[in-house]
Amino acid sequence: MAFFKKSKKDTSLSLKDIQLPLHIGIIMDGNGRWAKKRGLPRTAGHTAGAQTFRRIARYCSDIGIKYLTVYAFSTENWKRPKEEVDAIMKLFKEYMIEAINDFQDDSIVVKFIGDRTVFSDDMLELIEKNENDSKDRDGMVLNIAMNYGGRDEIVHAVKDIFADIQNGKLTADDISDQLLSDYMYTKSQPDPDLIIRPSGEYRTSNFLLWQSAYSEYCIMDVLWPDFKSEHLDEALIDFAKRNRRFGGV
Ligand code: IPE
Ligand code: IPE
Ligand code: MG
Repeated sequence: MAFFKKSKKDTSLSLKDIQLPLHIGIIMDGNGRWAKKRGLPRTAGHTAGAQTFRRIARYCSDIGIKYLTVYAFSTENWKRPKEEVDAIMKLFKEYMIEAINDFQDDSIVVKFIGDRTVFSDDMLELIEKNENDSKDRDGMVLNIAMNYGGRDEIVHAVKDIFADIQNGKLTADDISDQLLSDYMYTKSQPDPDLIIRPSGEYRTSNFLLWQSAYSEYCIMDVLWPDFKSEHLDEALIDFAKRNRRFGGV
């Protein structure tokens, strides 16, 4: 089996005993199933999931995580019914307005990763205001993956490299593992150490394909709206016990 299968919860360790990952990725999955279980429309699951996101992002910053990347909307999620897509975009917009106001005294650096060219001018303005207002802060970097796809990101990187070869900035000899990393949305950030997927699905769904070459996966049997700080602690403690070999012995 490619991915980790959850063992019993370990209560012998706490966060103060362990080394935390530098960069955590979270695939915020399970909103629809959470709503269905309650006889609610899927959009209610997204509203609940957005609240979980606020709590967990704050918690990660409080415990000293340096980079958090959350998968909020994929390049494939446009296939969903218009009503659902519209509801997700509305929640995204509300969060961006709120973040500008609420984060004023904060240390969190907000970034958006994904293809932003599809967004309306007012959305783009909010995205850029969040990024500009927070760029000089020294706290946790929060990457919000919106209209993000790992393959799409690699395609963009290749096109940008090609353009820079054509305009003479680069030569083909410059192409390397590091150069590719420098053309990704996560440029100059460390790769994710730990990727958490709630909702029990054993797949990447196009999340951070390039960056996750050696990430540790933690698949958790909880739907995202039900995800609590205790679940994050559980994933962190489990991560601390992994033996990362990076191809060595
Ligand atoms: C994740 O929850 C949110 C997005 C993909 C936007 P889902 O909406 O995928 O929830 P499930 O997987 O259908 O339960
Ligand atoms: C991945 O979840 C995308 C986000 C959580 C934003 P999906 O629900 O879209 O993934 P699949 O369709 O189950 O693979
Ligand atoms: Mg899903």
